[in-house]
Order: sequence, then C-alpha cells, then structure tokens
Amino acid sequence: MAEAVKEGFPGTNDIGKSVDELTTPAFVVDLPKVEKNCATMLETCKKFGVQLRAQTKTHKTIEGSILQTGGTRRSIVTSTLDEAELFAKNHFDDILYGFPLIPHHLPRVFQLTKTLETFHVMVDSDVAVDTLSANSPPEGKKWSVFLKIDCGNKRAGVWWENKDAERLAVRIHGTPNTIFKGIYAHCGNSYSEPVTNARNNSIDRMLAVSERIVSSGVPCPTVGIGSTPSCRQPCPEMEKLTELHPGNYVFLDVQQSTLGSCTYDDIACSVATRVIGHYPHRNQMLIDCGFLGLSKQGWGCMRTGYGVFRGHPNLKLCAMTQEIGFVEPLEGSLDFAQFPINSLLHILPWHSCATAAMYPYYHVVNQGKVTATWKTTRGW
Ligand SMILES: Cc1ncc(COP(=O)(O)O)c(C=O)c1O
Repeated sequence: MAEAVKEGFPGTNDIGKSVDELTTPAFVVDLPKVEKNCATMLETCKKFGVQLRAQTKTHKTIEGSILQTGGTRRSIVTSTLDEAELFAKNHFDDILYGFPLIPHHLPRVFQLTKTLETFHVMVDSDVAVDTLSANSPPEGKKWSVFLKIDCGNKRAGVWWENKDAERLAVRIHGTPNTIFKGIYAHCGNSYSEPVTNARNNSIDRMLAVSERIVSSGVPCPTVGIGSTPSCRQPCPEMEKLTELHPGNYVFLDVQQSTLGSCTYDDIACSVATRVIGHYPHRNQMLIDCGFLGLSKQGWGCMRTGYGVFRGHPNLKLCAMTQEIGFVEPLEGSLDFAQFPINSLLHILPWHSCATAAMYPYYHVVNQGKVTATWKTTRGW
C-alpha cells in the first residue's frame, strides 16, 4: 500500500473518497462550479463575437485549460514558459506566452515556435524586437508578436498614449520573418479602480492605439483586453474588440466577490482544513492550514482575516505560521463545541491563484466525492 502511494499519481488514492476523508489542508475544486464558470465565459465571448484567449495562470492544469477552451485546446495565454511547454506537449496550440519577452527566453521560445502551429510572444521594448530581428525563427516559421499596451494598469506594456506603440508596431511589422499579431492589455487596474471605468477606458484606449497603428500602415488584426472583473461584468462595446483574456474566473475567489464578479456561491475552490486544538484561555482555536496552505494574501482586505470560513461568518483567521492557522471569533466567545478537534472547515481564499499555487495537485469534487486529481505545473 505504501509503495502504491509513493509510485501512484499524486492523490490518485483519494479518488472516490469524500472530502472529510482527505488529508488536510487540501485544495478542493468544485467541478460543477468550474464547468459553469468556464461555460459562462465562453458564452460571454460568443455573445460579443470575440475570441476567448483563456489565461491559464490561475490553475496551471491541462484539465482546467480543456474546460476553458471548450475542449478545442486552442487560443490560450500563459504566464510562464513552463505552462506553455506543458500545454504544447499536451496538444494545445495557438499559445501566447503573455509575459514581456527578454533575450534569455529565446531558446525556449524558439523551441515552442518550432513545435507549435502557432506560438506567440509578447513584447513591450526595443530590446525584445532587437532579439527577434537578430535571430531567425525555426525554418518555415515566423515569429508571431503581440505588443503589450498599458491602458492604466501601470505594470508591463507601452503606455497607450505613447507614440512608441505605433513605432514598435512599425518595427515589428518591418522585421523579416515576423508577424505583427496585434495588441494586448491586461486591464489589471480593474482590481484597483471602479471596474466599469477600467474596463471602458481600456476598450477606448486600445481602440485608439489600434487606429494609430493602422494609420501608420500596419494591420492590427487582434485587439484584446481582459481581466476577470472586466469580463465577468462585460459591456456591449466589447464587440469592437477581437479577444478577451481573463483567467481567474475559472475558480473566482473572495476578492472577486468584493469587485462584483461573483457571489461566494460561485467560488469554485476552497481549502479544507481541520481543527487541531482548542485554547479557551485565549478564546482561540488552531487549524492545520498555515500560510503554506493558503498564502498570506488578503490580510487587511477582509474583516475575517486571511480567509472566509464557508458557513461561519463569525470566524476570523487572524494569524498564520507555516502550517498552523489561528482562529478567533469576530465577536463573543468561541463556541468550541461547534468546532470539535478533528472537525473540518472550508476556507474561501482571498486570491485563488495564490492559494492554488501552494498545492502540487487539486482534489476535484463532485457531489461531495473526489472524482479526479488535477496535477499542476509549478515551474517558470
Ligand atoms: C497578462 C495577463 N493577462 C490576463 C490575466 C488575467 O486576468 P484575471 O486574473 O483578472 O482574470 C492576467 C492576470 O494576472 C495577466 O497577468
């Protein structure tokens, strides 16, 4: 038995178990909810006549990306080369490595361009364009390039008003063996500004950049924005775009609920954890989920501390060490009888991408039973 556990696919032995039999902490994925979240996003894109280029960074699994693409395994964006390589090996195509290209990436980018029918890179600098122009793509292939635009997010990308946008587009277009695929903006400011402002501004600004690029003599076939808040609250103007590229919508999380993207009930993931001790003299109990089971994101964002205990709004996860969480009531005395030692609790994470990243595999549950384990990729 011990050998089987060692040799088997991680978590395989858990298939068929109920959640309360799992070793905790466990990252539990509610399959019907994930399926619904993925189908809803595909429907949104269909409604507005745009392509979904699903961002895979939240879950980093083959199974999740199959659901995101409606089974086509086409049109995804990854945040690491490692993800792109995993998907390339598993018959996905039309993959964008959605990260600013630097010369160090080139050998792996070359290999992916060679392997796939269509692999795209993203650039926002002359250094990146120099790298492509100084290196030939694999024989019979072209470099396919998205230009990253900053529409207010203030992370990567050429500032939308800056003439560098059209200048770089002209440079890319003029580089031998290179296709200018279009422009991409993340719309991550939808997390810090009113969602409708960030969304509407990003659409208007991207359309303005696209017009300037076309006026400079360069076709701009793809114009895309995307973040989960903007795409879960879509608007008719999205019809003017060609692509959306959200990612977090697969799982959603407490943060998304505060932004109007979902309710707690839509959140498709949780961390199962057990009570490990009662400390009435300090009105606290401990659980077996520390920061390696949840991540430390969310502090200061929630009245309930680092997470939200499903069904127990009076509980606060007030501190965490590596493997232990400290739980107190928000008000009054903790009812220890309600939370016996060994009993199970479920934490909805503030940021599901960060929490999922703590686990080498997820327990996928349907009607209370584990039906599958999804192995994730964790490299860079
Ligand atoms: C470049 C890029 N594109 C798309 C996304 C997807 O956004 P969201 O996680 O809000 O769905 C992200 C998320 O961080 C991103 O970094």
